[in-house]
Amino acid sequence: MLKNKVLALLENSKGIPLSGSELAQKLEVTRTAIWKATKALKEEGYSIEAIKRSGYKFVSSNDVLSPSSIRSRIRTKVLGNQIEILKSIGSTNTYIKDLKPATMQEGFVLIANEQTQGRGRKNRDFHSPAGEGIYMSILLKPDLNPSESRFLTICASLAVCTALEATCGFSPQIKWVNDIYASGRKLCGILTEGAVSLEMQNMSHVIIGIGLNTGKINKEVEEIATSVYNLTGEKPERNLIIAEILNHMEKFYYQLVLHKQKHELLEEYRKRLFIIDRTVRVIGFEKDFSALVLGIDDEGNLLVQDDAGQKHQLCSEEVSLIL
Ligand code: BTN
Repeated sequence: MLKNKVLALLENSKGIPLSGSELAQKLEVTRTAIWKATKALKEEGYSIEAIKRSGYKFVSSNDVLSPSSIRSRIRTKVLGNQIEILKSIGSTNTYIKDLKPATMQEGFVLIANEQTQGRGRKNRDFHSPAGEGIYMSILLKPDLNPSESRFLTICASLAVCTALEATCGFSPQIKWVNDIYASGRKLCGILTEGAVSLEMQNMSHVIIGIGLNTGKINKEVEEIATSVYNLTGEKPERNLIIAEILNHMEKFYYQLVLHKQKHELLEEYRKRLFIIDRTVRVIGFEKDFSALVLGIDDEGNLLVQDDAGQKHQLCSEEVSLIL
């Protein structure tokens, strides 16, 4: 789409104005078409300045969620083939569930600027204030056994970590199974939900929900949560992070479903797991108990040892760090 191409040229010119005729020549269209494309971009919320006799200039520090900006940066085959952005919604995961995923294409991505009923694991709330985070859900239709669906959370965790490394310059770590941490505080949570096809005995669809704090953190959770802004001192451009998450997610996803490289994915995951050799509280077993984390096995289960020396394999329980 012309709009995306204009946006990419303006973004790449790094604040130097590009004239309408320059843009028209580069893209082999008329100046009227360029004018229409910039008008459409402004309507999407982009700050594009029209400078007299110089041309159009993209004003940086632009943090408007936009499908065209994301599309102009993704290199995926399937993920993001359809991108929808909403100003405010209860929960992006719930919204996709209600859209009848069986009838939808794999790769659909829904992003909201705000969630009023954002959900986390175990029915916890996920605080999702307007403009302060990335709240997105990705629809996948993997040919996977339900017991392997944990690997999709592993792929998403790795995708978030590598995307942040590439765009924000810090290396987050993972707390099994679905939390991303940085500087000892939670930065991002992942909620993987799916449905099983009883006929085929595999997953009919999976919705991967990613909630990443990018801006201000609510005072009440300041002690336990952090954000990209808190870590870098700058509010990042969310479109760029989203695009990188999709690029990396597709790479890890294909590693899993096409190339069956569970072992390689687990190697990457282990490197980022910061709870190994730490004492944690295990929640969700018959009774909570404290234990030492030994590692993860080949299926992604967490291996722990309780105070009596007994070993346990955790699959859907939760662990919280004991400081
Ligand atoms: C957790 O911390 O337990 C997981 C949090 C997952 C939050 C994301 S935000 C996008 C998607 N929609 C939701 O309602 N939840 C997930």
